Amino acid sequence: MEVRRDPRNFIFLIILFLLINSPEPQQQAFNTRSHYDEIIEREWNALDILNRTRYGDFDPGRNRWLNISGLKDEDGFAWDLLEPVRRKAQEQVKGLFGDAGNGALQEPMTEERKLPVYKNISGYVEGEWVRSSLARVRHPSDMNASSSTLDNPFGMVEYDRNLTGTGGPVRLHMTELEGKMRTDENRTISEVRAKIVIGDHTSFGGNWWEFVLNGVHFPEFGGMVLTTTSDRYAGIFALPHLQLTQYLYTTSQQLLNGTIHDTIERQESRTFPIWNPWSSAVDGASEGMLTNPHCEFVLFLQEHPVQFQLKPGQQPLGAQYDLDWLEHELRYPTGSPMDRRSPLSMSMVGFSPDCGFVIESKGPSAHTPSESVHLVGAKTEVFNDRARHGILAFAITLALQLMFLINQMKETATPSTRNRVSFYTIAIMGLGDGFAFLSLIFMPLFLGTSQLALYAVAFLSLFSVVLELRFLMDIWSVQSTEQMRQEREQAATAGVTTPQRPNSPAPQAPSAVTTDNETLPLPATATPPRPPTPIIIAPDQDDPTQTATTPTIGTTATATTQPQAELGALYSRYSLSLVALFFITLQFTTMRATARAVYFNTLCFFYLSFWTPQIYRNIMRNCRKALRWDFVLGQSAVRMIPIIYLYAVEDNVLFSKTDYRALMVLAGWLWVQILALASQEILGSRFFIREGWAPPAYDYHPILREDEEGATMPIGSTQSPADDTGDSSSMSKAGESKGKGKKVFDCSICTQDIEVPVIPVGASSENSPGLGGGILQRRAYMVTPCRHIFHTPCLEGWMRYRLQCPNCREILPPL
Ligand SMILES: *[C@@H]1O[C@H](CO)[C@@H](O)[C@H](O)[C@H]1NC(C)=O
Ligand SMILES: *[C@@H]1O[C@H](CO)[C@@H](O)[C@H](O)[C@H]1NC(C)=O
Ligand SMILES: *[C@@H]1O[C@H](CO)[C@@H](O)[C@H](O)[C@H]1NC(C)=O
Ligand SMILES: *[C@@H]1O[C@H](CO)[C@@H](O)[C@H](O)[C@H]1NC(C)=O
Ligand SMILES: *[C@@H]1O[C@H](CO)[C@@H](O)[C@H](O)[C@H]1NC(C)=O
Ligand SMILES: *[C@@H]1O[C@H](CO)[C@@H](O)[C@H](O)[C@H]1NC(C)=O
Ligand SMILES: *[C@@H]1O[C@H](CO)[C@@H](O)[C@H](O)[C@H]1NC(C)=O
Ligand SMILES: [Zn+2]
Ligand SMILES: [Zn+2]
Repeated sequence: MEVRRDPRNFIFLIILFLLINSPEPQQQAFNTRSHYDEIIEREWNALDILNRTRYGDFDPGRNRWLNISGLKDEDGFAWDLLEPVRRKAQEQVKGLFGDAGNGALQEPMTEERKLPVYKNISGYVEGEWVRSSLARVRHPSDMNASSSTLDNPFGMVEYDRNLTGTGGPVRLHMTELEGKMRTDENRTISEVRAKIVIGDHTSFGGNWWEFVLNGVHFPEFGGMVLTTTSDRYAGIFALPHLQLTQYLYTTSQQLLNGTIHDTIERQESRTFPIWNPWSSAVDGASEGMLTNPHCEFVLFLQEHPVQFQLKPGQQPLGAQYDLDWLEHELRYPTGSPMDRRSPLSMSMVGFSPDCGFVIESKGPSAHTPSESVHLVGAKTEVFNDRARHGILAFAITLALQLMFLINQMKETATPSTRNRVSFYTIAIMGLGDGFAFLSLIFMPLFLGTSQLALYAVAFLSLFSVVLELRFLMDIWSVQSTEQMRQEREQAATAGVTTPQRPNSPAPQAPSAVTTDNETLPLPATATPPRPPTPIIIAPDQDDPTQTATTPTIGTTATATTQPQAELGALYSRYSLSLVALFFITLQFTTMRATARAVYFNTLCFFYLSFWTPQIYRNIMRNCRKALRWDFVLGQSAVRMIPIIYLYAVEDNVLFSKTDYRALMVLAGWLWVQILALASQEILGSRFFIREGWAPPAYDYHPILREDEEGATMPIGSTQSPADDTGDSSSMSKAGESKGKGKKVFDCSICTQDIEVPVIPVGASSENSPGLGGGILQRRAYMVTPCRHIFHTPCLEGWMRYRLQCPNCREILPPL
């Protein structure tokens, strides 16, 4: 029943999360409508001005202004920067294309003289920006922004997106969708929308901003002019006046005249108001009335000519023909060989008309090509290809991960083996996979590209989550029963001090004391002093021991009813922590670069700590055979791959910055954990901690000491079956001596001899011969608390199924 209940729980949480995170509906003030009408009225006015004006009507140098917000004289913007920035943009075109570029700015291109640029600019570019010498620092007081500061109760506040540093990273995502973005009939101009992610190296904590610019793209020569639009600055209406030449002014005016007209009409007919259709806020929401004002941007971008990498002997085809074919082939692949892909590459120059900074992309000729080569990226199709490969590789790692998990689950099918596995190790892995699932589901929202493969992989990771939860459930039910049994036992011993075993003989008490002081410490699971000499219990007396062992051995009725209630709690706790983790991570993705890096490094560190709980459990329980080695190595490798990809690959699909140092630390940490697990396996689970740090646990590999009493020596089971009545002197005879410091016993599982090193009487442990390589020698045999001795592989194999001594059915502490 609970299996059906819990997914609903999970889905409910996801929906809740969606509701919380969805953009809130815009608040409607009581005078909303009138204010909205006012805005639309203003837009029609601005469009009228766009319709009526001619090139050169806006010329701050000659004191000619436009009656649009932001372009009026009294607005106090730094429009004197426009002319030098336009000159730089023009030089950009001339530098790349020479006279042909100059011609493209003046008149339509003829069919023969096409420039080798991509016509469809959808894609991304990234690089560095540097502050230009033209830049100045302007303060909020420089602006005559009486209208916008009036409704701000805090008066003059520093502007957002104020680039004050000397440089920083910048990334642009351009979208130019067929059908959605309008163009003119010959496609000499087209609407374009770009998201910019721009950072500032010198700001505190590596601040960065993400916003949207709207503008026009000239596919003929690959130029773009982009601008922000806000209440204070009607950028899109002024766009034709920002163009480089009269010809570009005319084309852009014709296009914008039509598109703005349509947009305002659509805005009028909407039931829910859209305050600013050209808003620069990323999620499309309107900028709130009370948020900080932000700096406006005007960017001039110029695409670089596509460089063909011709194969030797290949004839250069007509550039135009080739490029059209290339773009078509990229978009609708027919399988033709495509070794001539050229990256999308651009230079940028831009300025802020209000905040006064001027930025340029870093690259030749001001900087050497080795420093930076302007902005480089890839077209959407190439990026999608790369994303597809990444998703495929991730699917393979998930499949491998599943395989290792299934193998491990098969191995740990018995309660006694489940008892060894750390719950938290599997829980961390489950959280990691759940996180991957949620990220894959929401990835299309963040990346803006939707890929069917994402959902397929999301399903795969959901499948591993389900398996891991199932495994967790198994472990939980075994371990909670075990814990309950221990608590019951402790409570019982607290109440009754005398051993309750009725058939434990009283005269044995003195020898019990010697056992405590000797090298056989009490097992962790059994606190009552047990009789030192085993009692061969007759078949009819088996029952007390049997009932004591059942809770450990199987999940019986008591084991299944109790955890069922806890299981629901387990699931909801899992989903809650997963959703909380995802939510916190989402918040951190918009933080300053340093905080974000610290958060993600910490997150990865904790994620990659998944072996630590297992190491801890091994120490506490003094066991070591919990996990298969292919599980440990395989999971480590497979879970490390995505992290290596995100930390070390330069142009990864999530645009994360490379950080080799952090990657080294993470990989080293994982390696240290694997080493710890390995050394626990070989040298014993407690070899690296001091004695007394961990609770006492039974040591299956004690140093065997030959003393007069023989109280600590194992019983040579087959040779002296009758000697267990307390005749201790016969025990030393049990294992026959073979050479100095060696004894031979008999393993009753495989009925072969065991040769064990024994410290002779009187020899101190320091100078005894067996101690140097002794730790490995001692691993070859195992002595049970009932002092039966077996080969390690024999008893380990046995203990996978039963935690009982094969000889005398005494309960064995788990391995
Ligand atoms: C643009 O100007 C023309 C006259 O030049 C006028 O007929 C037309 O209505 C104007 N359009 C808009 C949207 O103002
Ligand atoms: C500017 O436009 C506003 C309306 O938006 C109008 O009231 C005002 O008279 C105009 N100013 C000039 C100088 O044309
Ligand atoms: C500021 O704007 C007001 C009108 O909004 C105008 O009267 C005033 O001259 C402007 N001041 C400056 C310094 O431009
Ligand atoms: C931009 O930042 C600089 C340095 O912090 C500051 O002096 C200036 O006033 C800011 N400009 C705006 C418009 O906020
Ligand atoms: C440009 O390419 C992208 C990706 O293939 C496509 O979605 C878009 O419609 C194309 N735009 C134009 C104008 O062809
Ligand atoms: C489109 O191209 C055709 C022929 O090349 C030309 O006649 C027409 O004027 C062009 N249209 C525009 C708007 O430039
Ligand atoms: C702007 O568009 C209108 C129709 O919406 C048209 O009548 C007018 O001539 C256009 N103006 C310019 C300058 O293209
Ligand atoms: Zn054996
Ligand atoms: Zn035994």
